Amino acid sequence: MVVVSQPLSTTPSWQALIKLRETGLVRLPELFASEPDRAARRAVQVGDLWIDLSRQHFDSDVLDALVRLAEERDVMGFLTQTITGEVVNRTEGLPAGHQTLRLSREESPTDVIATRDRMADLASRIRAGEEMGATGAPIRAVVNLGIGGSHLGPSLVADALNHLSQPEVTVRFSSGLDTVELSKALHGLEPATTLVVACSKSFTTVETLTALDNATDWLTDGIGGAAINHVIAVTAEADRARALGIAEDRIFDVPESVGGRFSVSSATGLSAMVAIGADNFTELLAGMRTVDLQAVASPVTENAAVLMALIDFWNRSVLGRTSLAVVPYAHGLRLLPAHLQQLSMESLGKRVTSNGLPTDVPTGAVIWGGSGTDAQHAFFQLLHQGTDVIPVDFIGVARPSIDNRSAYRSNDLLMANLAAQADALAFGRSNEKETTHGVEEQLLAYRVFPGDRPSTAILMPELTPSTLGQLIALYENRTVANASLLDINPFDQWGVELGKQMAVDVAAGIAPKSELLRRFQALRGS
Ligand code: F6P
Repeated sequence: MVVVSQPLSTTPSWQALIKLRETGLVRLPELFASEPDRAARRAVQVGDLWIDLSRQHFDSDVLDALVRLAEERDVMGFLTQTITGEVVNRTEGLPAGHQTLRLSREESPTDVIATRDRMADLASRIRAGEEMGATGAPIRAVVNLGIGGSHLGPSLVADALNHLSQPEVTVRFSSGLDTVELSKALHGLEPATTLVVACSKSFTTVETLTALDNATDWLTDGIGGAAINHVIAVTAEADRARALGIAEDRIFDVPESVGGRFSVSSATGLSAMVAIGADNFTELLAGMRTVDLQAVASPVTENAAVLMALIDFWNRSVLGRTSLAVVPYAHGLRLLPAHLQQLSMESLGKRVTSNGLPTDVPTGAVIWGGSGTDAQHAFFQLLHQGTDVIPVDFIGVARPSIDNRSAYRSNDLLMANLAAQADALAFGRSNEKETTHGVEEQLLAYRVFPGDRPSTAILMPELTPSTLGQLIALYENRTVANASLLDINPFDQWGVELGKQMAVDVAAGIAPKSELLRRFQALRGS
């Protein structure tokens, strides 16, 4: 379906934004000086998340122009079409079904409830030691095989909420082709007490199917012909799973309309549910639902997802900042940057708009990051004094997941670091200040911090299933809102196909031999 929309660069709000850029940005220290209540005024709340946008480069004029842009592009309309199940994934002719999966029980379609109940039943039986393997021994371990969206979301949830796991149930994840990863995931486990979850929406992904073959060999070595009874399939393509001999009651459905990077609330979350328990998984979904509802109900000026998307648009598309660093100050969120990398870069890494024409403004930023304070000791030098301005998302958790004095003491230090880094980036340290610190003249240039480097801080009270769900859904809605501003489809990912197809030809030996391949074959020997 071709939708004709006005090229972005010809819209009045884009032109207003370009004019504001050309007038020159007001520096962050000046913005704070001219707006004494800026920190409180430029913050927004969604669910339990408090989001401080004050250290971003906008004043009222910029914000007004951005809000006008959101109106011109009808971002609220697109978010509403998404949640109400209209066909928003136009290149594939599909709705985006992920938000249907976190409706409350009363609101949910019967097939969604049926899958969720089956997941809960299996997860609860495993956790209770009541799910028996082929030899009669209880299942004590689950190994999730999947990649991309079939790995990143569930592994994030299991890792972030590790404090809710049961010591007697092991849940591990293996995503790649390298057998070293699978060997590590299986290390110390017994085939008789292990279930392998083959998590693949398409059930054609070479990494997952290869890992499944290898894991099945491992199961067979331990329990012989009963190996297939220890395999669970999570997929939209049940026939492909059945063709491998996986029994009907071992197949869990992922709706076709749910994109991999949006699929943690589907059966893709099965292994995470085993890790944290069915009730906690329900709370995660409820947290997501809270944020989904606010994304369509709040006016643009109070709408966290839309405001963050507008700031992303301002940073990336108007100001030309090519990347965004995500730095959570909580060990539990260390896998968040990888999850957001796929969510954002597969959704916004597009170059064609809904009318089939090339975009006329830059789209998706590079998303990367790492957990604070490790990140401080790895890449913050470049953030503070490098030549590129890289916006940062800081994420802080007020209360630690462990309830003891040392955990509070460490968490307070983490928060102190977060607050200090955000201010150091924004306000820097001038020549004069360095001189008063007694820095020698010839070192001044090296010691100055230019400041004026933007960041957003997201603060959550505690890392719970609900707040984690809220955080993930916030980034999802922000991504979808940004795509709507850019008039690109956030729900397809054609760009990953070419390399995959070429790899098949290379592996089959039918692709022309490059020098790289010749070298590889020479080094490989046999
Ligand atoms: O990386 C491309 C991709 O298609 C992702 O969108 C998806 O999450 C991943 O591969 C895994 O796909 P599947 O779940 O079908 O194995």
